Amino acid sequence: MGIAVFASGSGSNFEALVNHSRKNRWADPICLLVCDCPGAGVLKRAERLQVPILCRSPKQFADKKAYETWILDHLKAYQVKKIVLAGYMRLIGSTLLEAYPDQIINIHPSLLPAFPGKNAIEKAFRHPVCVSGVTVHLVDEGMDTGPILAQVPVEIERDDTLESFEQKIHQAEHRLYPETVQKWIAGEIGPRQVHIKPEEEEKN
Ligand code: GRF
Repeated sequence: MGIAVFASGSGSNFEALVNHSRKNRWADPICLLVCDCPGAGVLKRAERLQVPILCRSPKQFADKKAYETWILDHLKAYQVKKIVLAGYMRLIGSTLLEAYPDQIINIHPSLLPAFPGKNAIEKAFRHPVCVSGVTVHLVDEGMDTGPILAQVPVEIERDDTLESFEQKIHQAEHRLYPETVQKWIAGEIGPRQVHIKPEEEEKN
């Protein structure tokens, strides 16, 4: 049994996860990288770290269902029990969500529910806010909407540039994500109880 990491980009979170999993001897190792973007930097990292790669562009498939069914066949072959998204720039569809209910986790570079979607670091930086951060959450059918498991704040200081703020966010990600995934795999964390439904809150 193992963990599959899905990534589309440079793969710095993927590398942090693999290093942490090996150093801390996770019971379920990272046994597969799934990448939707041939040429992405993460592929070089996976080769160097000797993690098996599954990579094809979704454009080669008739639709999302066909693409995810192809992925699912490989996940079964690798006996994957949980999926970790690390900069995977694609919404997970019903085929994978139904095969892995509450077994898919994601990292997002803001304090959700603020700044969901793409370019979250830049959106926070361009807003008059003093604090943004990083969120780890379970994946549902929405865009960055699933139940939150862990968050860490990152200050936007007066002399920060977008680049320096971005660096701080990535450093926070590389600490928070591996630790949180390890606890999640071990069954030590889950979403907290929510006592007020958002629609009730609005009436008050
Ligand atoms: C990270 O900021 C992650 O939060 C977001 O995409 C970025 C991926 O970076 N979803 P990397 O490819 O892990 O370096």
